[in-house]
Amino acid sequence: MRPAHFIVLFLVPATLILPSCARPARVSHPAISPTGAGAVACAEAAARDAGLGILRSGGSAADAAVAVALALAVVQPNAGNLGGGGFAVVRSGEAITTLDFRETAPRAASHDMFLGPDGKAMPGASLVGGLAAGVPGSPSGLFELHHRHGVLPWRTVVEPALRLARDGFTVSQRLHDAVEWERDLLARFPETAAVWLPRGKPPEPGSVMKLPELAATLAAYAERGPEAIMSGPVAAAVASASRDHGGVLTTADLRDYRPVWREPLRFRAFGWEVASMRLPSSGGFILAQGLGMLERLGWAGLPRAGVDRLHLLAEVWRRAYADRFLLGDPARMTADVSRLLGPAWIAERAAGIDRARATPSAQLHPGSGNEISEAAATTHLSVADGAGEMVALTSTLNGWFGCGVYVKGAGFLLNNEMDDFVIAPGRPNLFGLVQGEANSVAPGARMLSSMCPTIAWRGDETIALGSPGGSRIPTATMQVLLDLIVDRDPLRVAVDRPRIHHQWLPDEISAEPGALDGTTRAALEGRGHAIRDVEQIGEVSVVRRLSGGELEAAADARGPGAAGRTGQ
Ligand code: DON
Repeated sequence: MRPAHFIVLFLVPATLILPSCARPARVSHPAISPTGAGAVACAEAAARDAGLGILRSGGSAADAAVAVALALAVVQPNAGNLGGGGFAVVRSGEAITTLDFRETAPRAASHDMFLGPDGKAMPGASLVGGLAAGVPGSPSGLFELHHRHGVLPWRTVVEPALRLARDGFTVSQRLHDAVEWERDLLARFPETAAVWLPRGKPPEPGSVMKLPELAATLAAYAERGPEAIMSGPVAAAVASASRDHGGVLTTADLRDYRPVWREPLRFRAFGWEVASMRLPSSGGFILAQGLGMLERLGWAGLPRAGVDRLHLLAEVWRRAYADRFLLGDPARMTADVSRLLGPAWIAERAAGIDRARATPSAQLHPGSGNEISEAAATTHLSVADGAGEMVALTSTLNGWFGCGVYVKGAGFLLNNEMDDFVIAPGRPNLFGLVQGEANSVAPGARMLSSMCPTIAWRGDETIALGSPGGSRIPTATMQVLLDLIVDRDPLRVAVDRPRIHHQWLPDEISAEPGALDGTTRAALEGRGHAIRDVEQIGEVSVVRRLSGGELEAAADARGPGAAGRTGQ
């Protein structure tokens, strides 16, 4: 067995909440000089091109990341957003930080708001309509990312998205399919249907679509930053759209929203430094626990093919997701996260793994599961510039097109992130996650996430990656990372390799086509694993700077993602 070198560097208490009037100064960028070089990987070609254009104009990775995220809010409206939220990890030279722009529960939210008079969860209430929406974090978050790490004027980074919304963009097959898939949801809200189901049908692939209301909002945002959305007429429109469809969002909720700079969750694994999101995302937690256990178990030394590595992946994830039950907004939690990420607990958990038998999840923690869906309602982008900055940013509406409510006049959809809270005790969320009281609804609280934007480095080599996929985000991200840092695969091979997933409950391994040959499947079943075939586990976008300085980018062939470098 290889020696375990796993150390969690838990930097406490690591937050900086921004009062509206007192932003931290811009980071000065000794390393940044506009070289015009860079690489982008994301979910749509038009958004990739927006980012590459910004890099060519001398923008930093953060400038380009904001431009890509805003372009996705136009061309990938089922996931890209102004009405949702997300997380970003930024490495600029040696400095590394993370930005939490997760949605929050409205002030009028309460512990039992999704329970009916019978004490049972009201069907659909946390997923469809106004009550499902949290306070959007993206408008303030993207502005803050630019404020601290951007080098180009704010207006310049908003411009590509504004142009796409105002002048039109070509409807992709994927957008057409997404609208078709969610036709019932979108048809339920007349304002939404008027835009996304023109003449009652999804926009045709290849047709040019203009979004004048969104263009007007982006123009105001380019002039005045988040105030243009989080206060004034747009905020009033959000509040009335919410109210008209049963929600409780108010203009005060929007006015008071703040993104939070947090120290990254940092740890060392397999000789690499890793920085990922800490709470309220569980993504970094699962990555840190999972990699820590694998290193202790000598995972790297096991044969690549066959059952042993896959069995251990399932077993470490089972344990990490069981501990996820204890997690929630760090401002309200009582669990000792530093203990759960400490070497003693990781060693104890790893020691409990039977190399020949699956541990039934019920023995790790009681609970029950259901079917998991993975809708492409989250979007991940990774960007590198030519001067040493990298950004990994994941943003989401939660379900496809969020809660379905379109903010008339403002041009964007609201999220349904409230479903990421515990809606009723023991009730699995949209992704089958069974969660605990630490993640119950409370006014102003941030709902627990699985998003996992991550940057890893060793010497001069650096990787930025992440994925959509709901509960499967950390496991998809971790498998690509393991391929890159342990097995040293080329980027394309690492992203393409079929994946598996386990999340404690339901007690089963999900497997993509091609992930398990007949013998391996039988061997896993022989060790006590139930196996469910699924279409897809995540959609990873990754950029890498090799030690010679060369940049690489890859988007996942599982979706129509797009990657490229300047100069190509
Ligand atoms: O924050 C989370 O964990 C979820 N709201 C992410 C949802 C998601 O990834 C859906 N799309 N693939």
